[in-house]
Amino acid sequence: MLEVTNGFLFTYFLALCFISALVPNIVKPILSLFSKVTSEEQSLWLQVKKLKEEQSMLSMKDDFAVYSKLQRKINKIEAELKETSQSRAGKKLAVKSSLTLGLQGIIAITLIISIIWYRKEPIVILKGNLFPLSTFLRYPSEVENSVSAHIWVLVSNYSIRTLIKPLFAQP
Ligand SMILES: *[C@@H]1O[C@H](CO)[C@@H](O)[C@H](O)[C@H]1NC(C)=O
Repeated sequence: MLEVTNGFLFTYFLALCFISALVPNIVKPILSLFSKVTSEEQSLWLQVKKLKEEQSMLSMKDDFAVYSKLQRKINKIEAELKETSQSRAGKKLAVKSSLTLGLQGIIAITLIISIIWYRKEPIVILKGNLFPLSTFLRYPSEVENSVSAHIWVLVSNYSIRTLIKPLFAQP
């Protein structure tokens, strides 16, 4: 049905589409580096825990002054913790989008340059009569029944994403 005339380009474009489809899976483990709880945060958590324990030994009515002083301390640390976790979430999102954009950008530029560079190189030769599609599939190559780079990229991209999707379905 089809004959691969340029094994290198056949694999090369498949691989680029494969990497492009895998970008979310590449970015994910890198992101986990940005979601680590710092030791400073851990010590704040411990402080809150201790203060709460202290507070639980007091009576709100009888030791009101001490009790509310502890409460103010707890509130202050908890607000700090909330802020840290929000800023971490913001940082994570920023890293995620810039990393994804950067990687996809590099792949896209590589694809575009390669497509232009190899535009006349037939990658696959299809068997059978493809009229009236043949001119469209081979353009700008002159080789009869051939499939040129940009069409091959579209086909690879579509097939790879279709194949990969069920494997990496994100819940
Ligand atoms: C590949 O397919 C995806 C989704 O179908 C699309 O977002 C992306 O732009 C395509 N890439 C190329 C190089 O065609």
